[in-house]
Amino acid sequence: MSKVTVVGAGNVGATAANVMAIREVADEVVMIDIKEGVSEGKAMDMMQTANLLDMNTRISGVTNNYEATANSDVVVITSGIPRKPGMTREELIGVNAGIVKQVTESVLKHSPNAVIVCVSNPMDTMTYLIHKVSGLPKNRIIGMGGALDSSRFKYYLSKALGANPNEVEGFVIGGHGDTTMIPMRRFATLRGIPCETLLDKETMDKVVADTMVGGATLTKLLGTSAWYAPGAATAEVVEAVIHDQDTIIPCSALLDGEYGEKDLCIGVPCVLGKGGIKKIIELDLTAEEKELFAKSAAAVHKTNEALPC
Ligand code: LAC
Repeated sequence: MSKVTVVGAGNVGATAANVMAIREVADEVVMIDIKEGVSEGKAMDMMQTANLLDMNTRISGVTNNYEATANSDVVVITSGIPRKPGMTREELIGVNAGIVKQVTESVLKHSPNAVIVCVSNPMDTMTYLIHKVSGLPKNRIIGMGGALDSSRFKYYLSKALGANPNEVEGFVIGGHGDTTMIPMRRFATLRGIPCETLLDKETMDKVVADTMVGGATLTKLLGTSAWYAPGAATAEVVEAVIHDQDTIIPCSALLDGEYGEKDLCIGVPCVLGKGGIKKIIELDLTAEEKELFAKSAAAVHKTNEALPC
């Protein structure tokens, strides 16, 4: 029996739970929230789709009762406030750090062996905070931002190419911030054909720029942070872990010398499977990419400095 807990049954948490259930990522998904009735109601609503969607996952919802989350294989933390139009993810740190710290302590009391997937923003800094609070082995904490940013990159590439999004490959490294993420244009392909040979430089520049503000664009349209792609990206990360897939997904991982960085969580390509991050893939970056990565790392370090602990 595999079990996943999703802390925070807001838009992102509930979407992640729903996608996990539809894709049968785990046998059991528990949503937990501080708002009375929200996770119970959303779980009931989702379970009423079970016969419609031929779904075998059991979803339940609880208010503040961490005992119900006991012995989870993976715990997803989405808790905290989302950004409003015009806000950066970094501005959320004051409120979200306290919430994420408390949630981490509560979930680990009942699921001491879980892999933790961090979704809360500012995502790289919250992932780092979970390391500091929990003292868990570094492979067991995964920040999901790179999975989402990479999916957005592939979306914008497919639009520019006029291609099927499923045929596009590409990934994003660096911080999960409007100015810190690094869409890796050199490695983007359409069925193995380098996108740089199919799109002119100006178009590629626009794809990269649109990807970087992909979250902000949606926040402006929706009045709050996006949830379909963040939820699905979270489910992708959890699926790789629960099903021991050895999938390469860019995620925020604690670096210990890789990419010339230490004591920092930032997006890098990771092999995900049983136990969490099995391996960090170190790319041979060009001088320009190295400079972008160093700048991104410096910005994330700066945000980390604002942590209360
Ligand atoms: C986004 C939020 C979830 O990028 O960070 O949509």
